[in-house]
Amino acid sequence: MGYFRDNVEKVKGYEPGFQPKSVDIIKLNTNENPYLPSPQAVEAFSRINVEHFRRYPDPVATVFREAAAEIHGVRPENIMCCNGGDELLTIAFRAFCDENRPVAYPVPTYSLYPVLANLQNCQALEVPFDREFNLPVDLIKTNAALTIVCNPNAPSGSFISVGEMASLADDLSGVLLIDEAYADFADENCAGLVKNFDNVIILRSMSKGYGLAGLRFGYAIAPADLISGLMKVKDSYNVDAVAIAVATAAIKDQEYFRQTTGKVKKARELLVAQLRALKFEVPRSYSNFVLAETKRCQARVIYDKLVQRNIYVRYFDLPGLENKLRITVGTTEQNDRVVMALKEILETAGSA
Ligand SMILES: Cc1ncc(COP(=O)(O)O)c(C=O)c1O
Repeated sequence: MGYFRDNVEKVKGYEPGFQPKSVDIIKLNTNENPYLPSPQAVEAFSRINVEHFRRYPDPVATVFREAAAEIHGVRPENIMCCNGGDELLTIAFRAFCDENRPVAYPVPTYSLYPVLANLQNCQALEVPFDREFNLPVDLIKTNAALTIVCNPNAPSGSFISVGEMASLADDLSGVLLIDEAYADFADENCAGLVKNFDNVIILRSMSKGYGLAGLRFGYAIAPADLISGLMKVKDSYNVDAVAIAVATAAIKDQEYFRQTTGKVKKARELLVAQLRALKFEVPRSYSNFVLAETKRCQARVIYDKLVQRNIYVRYFDLPGLENKLRITVGTTEQNDRVVMALKEILETAGSA
C-alpha cells in the first residue's frame, strides 16, 4: 500500500499557468490584471504594524466582511473570506460532496473542478456546453449535491443571463455555486440571487478586477445559513492579517476599481476587433481574456512561436479547446505587441 489515498495517488493535479521568472516578457497567460492594485491598498500595506504578525488574525475578517457587505447590499453574515476563490471551491467540495454526493458542471470550464472532485472522491457529472456556450438543459437532470457554473465562463468568456441562472437555482435540489471570478469584467452579475434563493453561493476573487492575485484573497456571498455551514469547514485563520488589511482597502476603493476594470474592458473590445481583422474567430467575451481560434495555423504552433518571442498566452490541450488560444487582455500596448506577433506568425505560416 502506498502512502497516499488512492484518489490522491491517481489524480494528475491542477496545472497552473506557467509563471516565468523573468519580468522582461509579455505575460498574458493567467488572467492577471495589467494594472497595479488601488493606491489605497498600497497605502494600507505600508501602514501594517508588525504587531499584527505576532497575533493571530481575525478568524472571520470582520472589516472585509463589512466592506464587502455594503458594496453588495447584503449583511456581513452573508460574506465569508477565503485564501483566494480557489479555497472557496475546496471548502465547497468538502462541505457538499462525497462518494454519494456528486458534483455537476458544464464543460469545458475551469480545469480545477475535476481535480477537486477526484480528491474528494465524488463523481463529477460533466455536461457539455453547445458551440455557443448556452446553459445545458441536462444540467438540471444530474441531481447533483453541488452544481457549479462558471459565469462568465473560463476559458470561453461567455455569459449566461441572470434570469437563466435564477431559473436554474429554482430548479435544482442541491447547491448552486456560481463562480464569478471574472464578474468584474461583465455588465451584470448574479450576486443579487443570494437574497431570493437559499441554495446559491457566489464566488468572488480579488485576483482579477482588483489586481491582487499575489495576495490570495477571495470571498463567498451566500445566505447566512450556508455561510455558517461553510465556516465550519474552513481553516480557523484562513486569511492572514496583511491580506485582510490590503483587500479591505482595495474593495473600499470602488472608484479605482471602476476605472481599471473599465480600461480592461475597453482594451478587450479593441483586441477582439484586431484579432478578428486577422481572421481569428473570437466569440464575445465578458471577461478579461478572449478565446481565439484560427484555421490558418495550429494553436499549439502559434503558442510555441509566441513563447519564442517572450509572449505567454494559454493553450489547453483539452477536448473542445484543441485549436484555441486564451489570451488575457493586457494594456493596449501589450495587446498591440501580441497582435503584431500573431500577424507575423500567420504570414510566415501562410508562406511556408
Ligand atoms: C474560473 C476561476 N475561478 C476561480 C479562480 C480562483 O481565483 P483566485 O484563487 O486567484 O481568487 C480562478 C483563477 O484563475 C478562475 O479562473
